[in-house]
Amino acid sequence: MRTEVKSLRAPEPSAAELSAEAERLFAAGLADLGYTEQDIERCAKLTWKINRLKAERRAVIPAHVYQRAEIIHGVADFIGDSYRLAKLCAVAESRSIVFCGVRFMAETAKILNPDKEVWLPAVEAGCSLSESITAADVRRIKALHPGAPVATYINTSAEIKAESDVIVTSANAATILRKLFSRHPKVIFLPDEMMGLNLAKALGKEPGREIIIWKGRCIVHDNFDSQSVALYRKMYPGVKILAHAECSPELVSMVDFVGGTGDMMNYVAKSSASSYMLVTECGLGDLARTRFPEKRFVPMCRLCPYMKATGLEGILGVLERPAAPQRIDLPPELCEKARRPIERMFELAEDGVKS
Ligand code: 13P
Ligand code: SF4
Repeated sequence: MRTEVKSLRAPEPSAAELSAEAERLFAAGLADLGYTEQDIERCAKLTWKINRLKAERRAVIPAHVYQRAEIIHGVADFIGDSYRLAKLCAVAESRSIVFCGVRFMAETAKILNPDKEVWLPAVEAGCSLSESITAADVRRIKALHPGAPVATYINTSAEIKAESDVIVTSANAATILRKLFSRHPKVIFLPDEMMGLNLAKALGKEPGREIIIWKGRCIVHDNFDSQSVALYRKMYPGVKILAHAECSPELVSMVDFVGGTGDMMNYVAKSSASSYMLVTECGLGDLARTRFPEKRFVPMCRLCPYMKATGLEGILGVLERPAAPQRIDLPPELCEKARRPIERMFELAEDGVKS
């Protein structure tokens, strides 16, 4: 039986400590993102307390790049795309993990660390892709296509992962599917329809015959409008347009680069274009603006309500008085089953490894 985690109360920062913390947040670029002095002061009080309690709890805080800027710059120990976060969580040397992201990411951290406490501050932080499919759906598809390996996007629950052969992320889906197709005539790809169609096109595979795709959609990326993208290209000559791989094939056909959030940041780092448009969740644009203050970013983004559900108050709450619903609890047998396809991803994502 689980022991209850005892409550802790963060001390109050002194005026000098508060001012040093506000200075740190200011230097990280929050004011350039539109945070007022009062906003920064309010955040500083919370980030100071969180960082104090984080050390006391021996907790690590991973944050996805779509998280609010005050989380990314104020309390995160490491940030990244889904792949990088999974890799870093697999080697995290802490007693517990307080995950700033969405449930499937926290579950992945738990699967890779079954003996650690993993906490999700915002219990409502789901994902429309993850919610689009059930384990029974996967079993039905597998029965319809015997022998076809199941490649599953990481944006899925532990139950779906446990039914899969290999997990993929936006950073490695094409590499892994290419390897699967070198050994199999047909591959099942779940659950993102848009990403599946983009992969089919990139790999020259016929949807419905060679690649079997589920009908899940990301409520953020599915709603970008191709006509606006075309208009912006005319308005900003020389702009480099980058889109997340969850966008529609129509939109993807109009952009300069398609990939995951990590790939998009790498592209911006290496390019010397006059301006960039990042067609994805707004958090990535905020991060790009603070990381590359000398570059110009044309606004075109949408907020993910799930990603933005986490706030500093929730993180402090989980460190002070963790509540049972915030704990990621997965049966050990489920962790064991779901871990194998994640480890398969780690193997296949590395160059030179065969399927
Ligand atoms: P990345 O792995 O590219 O960061 O994507 C995660 C996600 O949820 C995209 O909507
Ligand atoms: Fe899920 Fe889309 Fe939000 Fe990413 S942006 S967490 S895919 S709903």
